[in-house]
Amino acid sequence: MQLVFATNNLNKVKEVQELIPLNIKVLSLKDIGCFEEIPETQDTIEGNAIQKVEFIKKHYDYDCFADDTGLEVEALNGAPGVYSARYAGELRDANNNMNKLLTELANHNNRNAQFKTVVALHINNTTQTFTGICQGEITKTKHGENGFGYDPIFKPNGFDETFAEMDLKIKNSIGHRGKAIAKLVNLLKTIEQKFS
Ligand code: IMP
Repeated sequence: MQLVFATNNLNKVKEVQELIPLNIKVLSLKDIGCFEEIPETQDTIEGNAIQKVEFIKKHYDYDCFADDTGLEVEALNGAPGVYSARYAGELRDANNNMNKLLTELANHNNRNAQFKTVVALHINNTTQTFTGICQGEITKTKHGENGFGYDPIFKPNGFDETFAEMDLKIKNSIGHRGKAIAKLVNLLKTIEQKFS
């Protein structure tokens, strides 16, 4: 079985490759000759994930999965949420995004937050979604060098380290994307069994 993972984010490809069974070949956008920007214009995380897989199916005719992630901060009524990538502007700069969030939270004691990932899968002419959530809190300063995005300021519940201080395997096992991908993998295993 082969599936396209509709992302240009190499960090995500690295994370997800560790989780998908080896007998499922994951193709990148480059592998299928897709070099254009895939639209993400919906106002929900789920809507964006679905939009990406349906775009690939329509224009490239491949079965496909895609993820969309947002960081939802309780004291900010769920912001930045679906707008996490562009929180501090169109440059999508991780440091600017983190600095803006730290400034917005400066006067808040409630630092609860959660990462939410929705993975959409389009296979056999059907689209379905899988959600993974990781709860934690926003730290007061940045810690760690691993990972990407908001990782240096997100400390998952039950841990003393931020995601950026953790080994990738640990992040995957407790993280939002890992949880959503685990649900996807379960479904893929069922489909494989049916057709083998
Ligand atoms: P997207 O799912 O690639 O659109 O990500 C939206 C925003 O959330 C971007 O700013 C990413 O850098 C950030 N983001 C997504 N996944 C993670 C993660 O696992 N850790 C930290 N930041 C993330």
